[in-house]
Formats: sequence, C-alpha cells, structure tokens
Amino acid sequence: MKEKYYITTPIYYPSGNWHIGHCYTTVVCDAFARYNRMLGKDVFFLTGTDEHGQKVEKKAAEAGVTPLEFIDPLVAELKEIWKALDINYSKFIRTTDEEHVKAVQKIFKQLYDKGEIYKAEYSGWYCTPCEAFWTETQLKDGKCPDCGREVTLEKEESYFFRLSKYADKIIKLYEDNPEFLQPKSRMNEMINNFLKPGLQDLCVSRTSIKWGIPVTFDEKHTVYVWVDALSNYITALGYGSEDDSLYQKYWPADLHMTGKEIIRFHAIIWPAILMALGLPLPKQVYGHGWLLIGGDKLSKSKQDKVKAELTDPKQLVSRYGSDALRYFLLREIPFGSDGVYTNESLLNRINSDLANDLGNLVSRTTAMICQYFGGVLPAAGPREGTDGELISVAENLGANVKKAMDALDAPEALAAIFRLVQRANKYIDETTPWILAKDEGKKARLGAVLYNLAECIRIAAIYLKPFLTVAPDKILACFGIDGKKTEDFSAANTFGVLAAGTAVEKAPPVFPRIDVKKELKEIEEMFAKKAKAEPEKKAPAHEHTQKEEIGIDDFGKVQLKVALVTACEKVEKSKKLLKLTVKLGEETRTVVSGIALAYTPEEMVGKKVVMVTNLKPARLCGIVSEGMILCAENEKGELSLLKPEREMEDGSEIF
Ligand code: MSP
Repeated sequence: MKEKYYITTPIYYPSGNWHIGHCYTTVVCDAFARYNRMLGKDVFFLTGTDEHGQKVEKKAAEAGVTPLEFIDPLVAELKEIWKALDINYSKFIRTTDEEHVKAVQKIFKQLYDKGEIYKAEYSGWYCTPCEAFWTETQLKDGKCPDCGREVTLEKEESYFFRLSKYADKIIKLYEDNPEFLQPKSRMNEMINNFLKPGLQDLCVSRTSIKWGIPVTFDEKHTVYVWVDALSNYITALGYGSEDDSLYQKYWPADLHMTGKEIIRFHAIIWPAILMALGLPLPKQVYGHGWLLIGGDKLSKSKQDKVKAELTDPKQLVSRYGSDALRYFLLREIPFGSDGVYTNESLLNRINSDLANDLGNLVSRTTAMICQYFGGVLPAAGPREGTDGELISVAENLGANVKKAMDALDAPEALAAIFRLVQRANKYIDETTPWILAKDEGKKARLGAVLYNLAECIRIAAIYLKPFLTVAPDKILACFGIDGKKTEDFSAANTFGVLAAGTAVEKAPPVFPRIDVKKELKEIEEMFAKKAKAEPEKKAPAHEHTQKEEIGIDDFGKVQLKVALVTACEKVEKSKKLLKLTVKLGEETRTVVSGIALAYTPEEMVGKKVVMVTNLKPARLCGIVSEGMILCAENEKGELSLLKPEREMEDGSEIF
C-alpha cells in the first residue's frame, strides 16, 4: 500500500482583492504535494476558504448584499487563480459547505459534552481584522498585538474552551516532537510569548455575530470563527459525517503549512482542541515568512499604497506565465524568513535563472545536437576532463533535493537544481563544443559532451516538475520523453538513461528574455494610465482624525531627539521616500522618510530635524528605517519639517 501524505494550506478569508502574497502558501503546498506524489505517495492536498465571521459580515453589509452574495464571486476568482497557477489540489473546502457546518456543530457539542466547553460571561478586546480575542494585558499600546489595529471592547454571554489546562501538554508536545513546529524559532516564540506566561480559556462562541455556524444546543450563539476554520482540516475528510473513510485514511495531517502570523492558532489552539477531542495531532506545522510588498505583508488596507507594483496574480501569470511566478515565489522567500516583491526582482529572477541559466542551457544543447548530429542524440563516451565532476553533481541531485525538501526548504531544493544547471553551462564553456566540431577526429568526444549535457538537462527537468508545471514537460519533449508520463523520480536517479540515436528537437524559447527596462516602463505607464482614468481623491497621506485622549505616561513612552541630517539620497523606485543618514550625538542612524515630494536630498543635508528615536525599526523598500522624522501636514497634503526653534546640539532630548 502507498504511504499517505496529507498537506493543507490555511483556508483563505474572502476579504477583497487577491494579491501575489496570497499565492505563496498555496504554491509552496502545491510543490510539496507534487514532490510527494512523485515520490510515490498517496497525496491529499487540501485548500479552501474561511467564510464566516465578523469581517465578512461587515463587508457584506457595507456592500448591501448577503454574505454569500459577497463571498461567491471572490471564491470563484480564487479558484481561477489556482487554475492559472496550476494548483492541483485534491479538495477545495468552503466553511459554508453543509457537510462542514454539520461536522463543526458536532465537534462543538462533543467538546461541550466532555466538559471542555463551559458557559460564562466574556469581557475583553476583539480585533476584527484578525478575528482574535485579547486580554487587556496582551494588548500592545491598546492595539491588537498582532496587527497593531484598533480593538473593540466586547462583553457578552459566551462559551469558553478550557484552553488554560493545555499549556503544559503543548509544551510537552514540543519537547517530545522537536520537529512539530518549524522553523525552530517559531517554537521559542510560542513557548516564551504564550505558553510559559500561561494560557487563558478561549472564548469560542459569540451572540453578537450572526454570520457563523449556530451552536445547536444554544442557537443564539455562533461558533468562534477560528474553531470553525481550524476544524476544516478534519471535516474536509468527512470527520463527523456518515462517511469518514478519507479521515481514517489521511488523518493526521503530515503538514499544516501556514503563514507565521497564524502559527498561534495552528500550534497551540488547534492541538489543544484535538487533545480535548481525543484525536491524533498533526505531525508538523510550518510557519513560513511573508512576501513583503512595499515593505509590508500587503494587507488590503495598504494595497493602495503600492500601486506601482503589479500584484494581481492573474495579470502576472498572463504577462510572464505560471512557471515564472511559481519559480519566483518558491525561490525568493528564504527558508523561515521574509522575501521582498518588486516588479524588478521578479523580472530579474526570470531573466537570470530561467532565461539565462536554464533557457540557454536547453537551447544551446539542443541546437548543437541538431547542428552537429542532425538532431540525433550521439553516444556517451569515456569520461574525460570535468565529465566526472559534472556527472556527480547530476547523480547527487536527488539526494540534495530530498535533503532540502525533508527540511521543508523549497528554495534550497531549487538552488540545488540550478547548481546542476549552472555546472552544465560551465561545462559547455570548459569543453567548447564549437571548437571540437571543427575537428573531425574529435567527433566522438563532441558527441560524448553533448550526451552528458542532454542527460543533465533530463535529470534537472524531472526534478523541476514539482516546482514548474509547464517548462519541464516542454524540455523533456525535446528529447522524446513524454513528461506527462514521468510520474516519479526513478529515471532521474540514474545517469545515462537516454539512448543514443534518440531524435532530439531544437527547443523552443522556454523562457524568453525580458527587456527589464522596457517592461518596467510599460508597467509604469500602465499604472499612470489607470491613475488618469480613475483620478485619485486627493487625500492627505495621513488621516486627520481626532485621536483619543492619552495620559502623560503614554506620551512619555515616545522618545524624541534633535537629529542632524549628514547625508541624504532618493530611494530608488519610490517617488515619496528619501533615505537619510542622521547623527544623534555619538550615534548615527539610517531613516527612511516620506518627504521626497516636499524636500530634495540636497536641501536636507545639514538640517536639524525632530526625530522619534525609539520606534521599532521598519523595512521600507528594502531599507531598514531606524526612526521617524516629524513633519506637519495640512489638509492639502503639503508637508513641513519640524525643527528646534533655537540652535540645539544633535542628540538633544525633546520633551
Ligand atoms: N483564514 C485564515 C486561516 C484559517 S486556517 C484554519 C487566514 N486567511 S488569510 O486569507 O488571511 O491568509 C491565507 C494565507 O495567505 C496565510 O497563510 C497567509 O500567511 C498567506 N498570506 C497572505 N499574505 C501574505 C504575504 N504577503 N506573504 C506570504 N503569505 C501571506 O489567515
């Protein structure tokens, strides 16, 4: 019997425009699912949408439609994106599916019957964008500690899950299974920030939110959206239904892949719920980093600020192809950390790795086989020169890809494949086939060189199949191999499989080189045209709202100092940002400030400004900004820097 492999993405909130950041988790899961299928495993790959909760309820009401009328088109659009990106999921669950609703109701009742859920009064803070509850002490400066947005005080009768009793059990789970939560740093975060301080019981029902799954034994309550959502991982397999054969076969999950911001739900709350139900726990949870766009994770509310980057997945696929986008996503976010998206970084990746390295290798090799051997693959020959070194890179590829994929490191797996591609390109330069071709006596050696190259390409293309879904088959087809029938890696683990005499075709340009300058200009013009067509409401960059009253203690938390600007330059690719080097007495810092439309770099140098010096560093356009320069802004959006009224040494405190 085949070994099973069950992998899940989080289910997506249908909350607005889909962007390239959303594609990350699913593309990574798809690559892991394809890889495991090719290892011969029986794979179940689950994805879907998380449709209940206050956020959707509010948005639908604002749009004057029912929640489902609001959600349905967004779900359809998401499915189209997955199709465009060749996402081969086994099931797409919607939390509004009747089967899921019924199963969640059963789960809730089971927990209640077991005494794991009790009724009490809830009083606490709720963050609607995160659909998360917080206690007074958990808030950061009175805001949501996860996203920094406003929270509202909520007080109502609620059911509570006895989460508090699971803290020690979860610490033990981590201790007994050091691989349970990856990367390791996330485990420390969970232990130090949540488990060690002690867990509070979790409010798991609401009476004020109607758009949710009703609690069967107390209908004025709806199930807390995270309990509803997390349960999808088992309800999708038929848990709690008449036919739970898929649950019996695939549960526990081998891997829950999630973004790092929702690790707490997957690595604490979900295992606790499963423990309470007496069900097996998932084998592994992986909290990946983000694709930062315009210095941010690109929440919907911030999307308007990065209009100059193409972030619409369908538009990106139609311009550059699904393989290019998949490759970028899989390669650009280093294991466990964040990656940055800009139009330019995507285009450079396409050009350097796909067009230059891979495309050139394939087109040069197939062209030479056609030119020197009439499109018939020559025979291998005795090993000479660097043949052995090249062949050993090809022969070790499987082991290197496996090592990286076992460690959930898709970028490293791709790097290993491209090391073979690059080694093969270097081999062409070393062996200079065009010189061998001039000497009839070297025909056999020329043949052997081209044979070795063809084999390297074949092996690389097979190992690329989990990651790219179009190009590998096109490449294999040049060597008469039906990629669709290449369902496992077995043929890629041996060097010398291609038979001499095989008909070889000249490869079509698999990844045409993009003229980056021209393309960036076109994108810029596209945005400019769009902006002209829908003129933006001229709004000041900051909302001029009346802020709530604060005490002197709150104000005292802000550290302000006089700073001397010693150097200043424009931030490339940004119209608004300047990068400043400032001196604060003995200390020198870098600050990125949105004042480029009001001040030139030249006039900034030598100015003494007022700066917030204890602000958490933030990355803007790839530059870490270590503070904030204060500015006044009027209703027209005009800016004026603040400066000390009398001459003051830099580094002087302001209070
Ligand atoms: N509905 C919850 C998950 C419930 S799972 C039981 C949710 N949905 S989400 O739509 O906000 O996020 C879905 C996935 O997209 C998450 O893994 C999230 O991390 C990912 N991403 C959204 N923007 C992202 C980036 N900019 N970069 C990488 N992934 C990010 O959370």
